[in-house]
Amino acid sequence: MSWKLQDIASQSGRIAIVTGANIGLGFETAAVLAEKGCVVVLACRNLDKAQAAKQQMLKRDPDASVICMALDLSSLKSVRAFAQAFSRSHSQLDLLINNAGIMMPPYALSEDGFESQWAANYLGHFALTGLLLPLLVKTPKSRIVSLSSLAHTWGAIRLEDPNFTRGYDKREAYGQSKLACLMFAYELQRRLSRAGHNTLSVAAHPGVSATNLFQHMPKAVQVFSPLMSLIFQSAKGGALPSLYAALGADVAGGDYYGPGSMGQMRGAPVKVGSNRASRDLTVATALWSLSESQSGVRYLD
Ligand SMILES: NC(=O)c1ccc[n+]([C@@H]2O[C@H](COP(=O)([O-])OP(=O)(O)OC[C@H]3O[C@@H](n4cnc5c(N)ncnc54)[C@H](OP(=O)(O)O)[C@@H]3O)[C@@H](O)[C@H]2O)c1
Repeated sequence: MSWKLQDIASQSGRIAIVTGANIGLGFETAAVLAEKGCVVVLACRNLDKAQAAKQQMLKRDPDASVICMALDLSSLKSVRAFAQAFSRSHSQLDLLINNAGIMMPPYALSEDGFESQWAANYLGHFALTGLLLPLLVKTPKSRIVSLSSLAHTWGAIRLEDPNFTRGYDKREAYGQSKLACLMFAYELQRRLSRAGHNTLSVAAHPGVSATNLFQHMPKAVQVFSPLMSLIFQSAKGGALPSLYAALGADVAGGDYYGPGSMGQMRGAPVKVGSNRASRDLTVATALWSLSESQSGVRYLD
């Protein structure tokens, strides 16, 4: 695929929400969407950081239309408040980019009592999507992009104990959360199609990109290591699969995009596959029910 940012048509008249847009892949995704004329909402847990990101975007493009709104995905109260505020002030939503995430932090529970990676990476986005769905489905050509990872193979969906109440394994918990994001993207598409909606649900992963995500990893693996910075691609490069999933002309619902070179670690975006666990329909259905009962947000049943 020889897709380039220059190929992206004007997005004028469209509105996008990018979660975790103050830095890293979310920042790059939001900046490109804004440069292409989209009104972009930076949905961030720290409004000062969001404002600083907005200023950087305006430096890149003084005509960019960027709005900062508070959203902490690890708080269902915050997710509800965000969705309510956005829905009150907008009558359309073209793109929802479920990007925010954390990786392998020490064990912690969210204010709602969920393991922190499950809460921030997955459950918050499940609830957010459901609460914004009425706007998405009434907006022609709308898309929902969910960020997964090569790490979706590191874990399984632990339907009996997603919170790791016994024996926290931070790597496995990250893998579980990213597998859940991917299974959610697939299951959401099946349910959208069944309900007759045209909104597309698409998944993407950035390969391995030099961002703050690695802050809890051992120093040797961190982006400062000279060897690692040879392997890691930039956040700009890592944002391309998300942008392709959001805007690519030949994208179909249920597709998954990632970098096409070096074992999907870097390179231009291509359509990629995922492991067998991610395609398990029985687990996908059970995951959906679990997510509804955990979040209290029911949709597309
Ligand atoms: N970088 C990679 O190689 C890689 C590989 C595979 C998948 N991914 C996925 O790509 C996505 C973006 O990661 P990144 O690499 O850009 O990481 P990053 O630079 O650390 O950015 C993560 C963003 O998520 C935000 N965030 C974290 N917890 C949040 C919460 N509870 N509520 C709202 N926002 C929250 C962060 O906000 P703060 O700045 O306030 O912390 C930040 O804006 C993640 O879903 C990650 O799993 C990344």
